[in-house]
Amino acid sequence: MLDVRRIRQDFPILRQQVNGRPLVYLDNAATTQKPRQVIEALVRYYETSNANIHRGIHTLATRATEQYEDARRKVARFIGARGPEEVVFTRNATEAINLVARAWGDEHIGEGDEIVLTLMEHHSNIVPWQLLARRKGATLRYAGITDDGKLDLDELRRLIGPQTKLVAVTHMSNVLGTINPVADIAEMAHRAGALLLVDGAQSVPHLPVDVQALGADFLAFSAHKMLGPTGVGVLWARAELLEAMPPFLGGGDMIAVVRPESSTWAELPHKFEAGTPNIADVIAFGAAVDYLEGIGMANARRHEEELTEFALERLRRVAGVRIFGPSSASERGGVVSFAMEAAHPHDVATIADGYGVAIRAGHHCAQLLMRALGVPATSRASFSIYNDVDDIEALVEALEGVNRVFGEGRERTAVR
Ligand SMILES: Cc1ncc(COP(=O)(O)O)c(C=O)c1O
Repeated sequence: MLDVRRIRQDFPILRQQVNGRPLVYLDNAATTQKPRQVIEALVRYYETSNANIHRGIHTLATRATEQYEDARRKVARFIGARGPEEVVFTRNATEAINLVARAWGDEHIGEGDEIVLTLMEHHSNIVPWQLLARRKGATLRYAGITDDGKLDLDELRRLIGPQTKLVAVTHMSNVLGTINPVADIAEMAHRAGALLLVDGAQSVPHLPVDVQALGADFLAFSAHKMLGPTGVGVLWARAELLEAMPPFLGGGDMIAVVRPESSTWAELPHKFEAGTPNIADVIAFGAAVDYLEGIGMANARRHEEELTEFALERLRRVAGVRIFGPSSASERGGVVSFAMEAAHPHDVATIADGYGVAIRAGHHCAQLLMRALGVPATSRASFSIYNDVDDIEALVEALEGVNRVFGEGRERTAVR
């Protein structure tokens, strides 16, 4: 059991009232709040160590470089990478996926090749592949979802064939919460001679993720969804893949030797980090990783699974609520999307805000999934380590308020 009361004391933002009610923050799939340890790491860096890295030899530059590279080592250890050279810092998960689409995709994808995706992908794991396919004359194929909101693995298996060069799937859906069996998908992809990119934006913050066990070739995720600052993402890839890839962006810090006509590249991972990086936020991200390790990812997962189970059970009892995604909490992360008969998701979120409850409404950057579900938008509550059952009760109270404002939803409650 997590000591949520103690954990909440580390998150100053949670102490406030919103619309006269204590803030209940249930929009963690969009971004999580930051513990004071992360905020203090940022302040400490600027107050004691600020300098540009990898270049200067003075004391501050050496200290900043050491702290930046220390954060890289922490991240590498956190995901089970073979070494820090396999961890490339980007701006966010989106940029990490674009990096692969450009640097790997432009070299390895050609006319007639196929890239296999799923209908539950976030736009950031769709659009870079559309751009690549257009540049190269390749084709995109999409595996659909089952009625209970799981990935249709039979269809995925059928779609992966001799033309497939890459399979790109989310580890955990940001809408349905569905956790996909990535190790099985890696086997399918590799049997066909394709590589697997995993979008870990929702999984790495909430589940124990070990890249060796995943069997993936690329993994992308964002610091801001795992208690860290905005402006930092991670691309992990096997070193031999990164070694063979050309740079994504050119400039300072990513070169070995520059000559008038051409240049040679710096060692991994610096080849992929052109220009001055987001030094302060990377260092503060290291503090976020420390914080999560202190909690323990297995403990975080257990807590969020229990909370999800409780939320599913409570929301099923609210009139007119239809829940999307797998019915069992063991098959999903702490994300619950739902529709209400009585009101549009935007109205639901607006009324919830009046109760101090922050939830998300919209297509969640997953328009293909919305179309597959047959809805324009959903409301979404998503959990983190600082949420507890009282937060779910506050959500339920708000949804009952929605029914009062818009008229009772009919008694029918369906689970999809
Ligand atoms: C599954 C998934 N992939 C990718 C992203 C993109 O993350 P970012 O905007 O930090 O690049 C998100 C963000 O919501 C997400 O939920």
